[in-house]
Amino acid sequence: MKLNNTKKAKPFLKWVGGKGQLLAQFESLFPKEFNSYFEPFIGGGAVFFSINPKKAHINDINKTLAQTYIHIKNDVEGLIKSLKKLEEDFLKKDEIARKEVYYALRERYNSLSHEDFDKSLYFLFFNKTAFNGVYRENSKGGFNVPIGSYKNPKIVDEENLRSVSKILSNAKITSGSFVDAVKNAKAGDFVYFDPPYHPLSETSSFTSYSKDSFSKDDQIKLRDLFIELDKKGVYVMLSNSSAPFIQEIYSGYKQIPVYANRMINSKSDKRGKISEVVIVNYQPRLNLESVFEKDLSTSPQYQYR
Ligand SMILES: C[S@@+](CC[C@H](N)C(=O)[O-])C[C@H]1O[C@@H](n2cnc3c(N)ncnc32)[C@H](O)[C@@H]1O
Repeated sequence: MKLNNTKKAKPFLKWVGGKGQLLAQFESLFPKEFNSYFEPFIGGGAVFFSINPKKAHINDINKTLAQTYIHIKNDVEGLIKSLKKLEEDFLKKDEIARKEVYYALRERYNSLSHEDFDKSLYFLFFNKTAFNGVYRENSKGGFNVPIGSYKNPKIVDEENLRSVSKILSNAKITSGSFVDAVKNAKAGDFVYFDPPYHPLSETSSFTSYSKDSFSKDDQIKLRDLFIELDKKGVYVMLSNSSAPFIQEIYSGYKQIPVYANRMINSKSDKRGKISEVVIVNYQPRLNLESVFEKDLSTSPQYQYR
């Protein structure tokens, strides 16, 4: 599959770990051509939307998130209509009344099942109105983020939602295990894994996306899956932190440094701190030396096969 150059949908969510800022660095790392696209940890989907694939399977463990993609795919006009109404009613209220609405909706949201249309509707609403737009659940799986202090939040971007719906029309959407999400990947397909990162140090804080967290054993299971797909002839790309544990378990593969502060600067004193790596099992389309500096790309820490 060649990359599709028609008008692209943009991510419609703010999402922790979103890759929007890294796309400029990523584009040269994708395989030159591929058939179907798979993204088992879709989150806000920055890479998926940037690739704009003709055929895809996307997945996330967060059931409401996956279900929201499904509702956008199947009933975008219904969602736009209800979101616009919600936006209009919310924005004309004063601060106190907005709080009342927000907390009443949060309570209702937590009583709904994942498949409910209204659950997705409120999920989209909270993404634009909750504190920092973060999504966090308590140990019982209830969404518990307080209201943010946005004056005039843009709750619905209808044109973009329609573009999102269009690209999703060719995507299979699931909320299962990352292993099941790539079961059908064949030689010539492309899989991008963006799992929760392994902490850079044992003390660095861990951000949980839902009540299920991602353990060291999960990282190993994912590495084993990476090897299995590699053997099948699937192109595989994976993002993670540059923690020694991650470098060690992927030591047989190309590890490309990524500048987390999103700056590529030729002056070393202005160079961003490398806290992330991209691991691939193929020759990317890039000319590495032109994108990353030679001293880094040849340092023992980042050996290419
Ligand atoms: C780093 S985020 C992905 C960010 C995404 N690339 C973006 O640009 O927004 C990781 C995602 O993995 C999901 N996740 C966590 N554990 C998972 C699991 N075991 N299986 C599938 N998805 C999982 C989280 O819900 C979260 O959305």
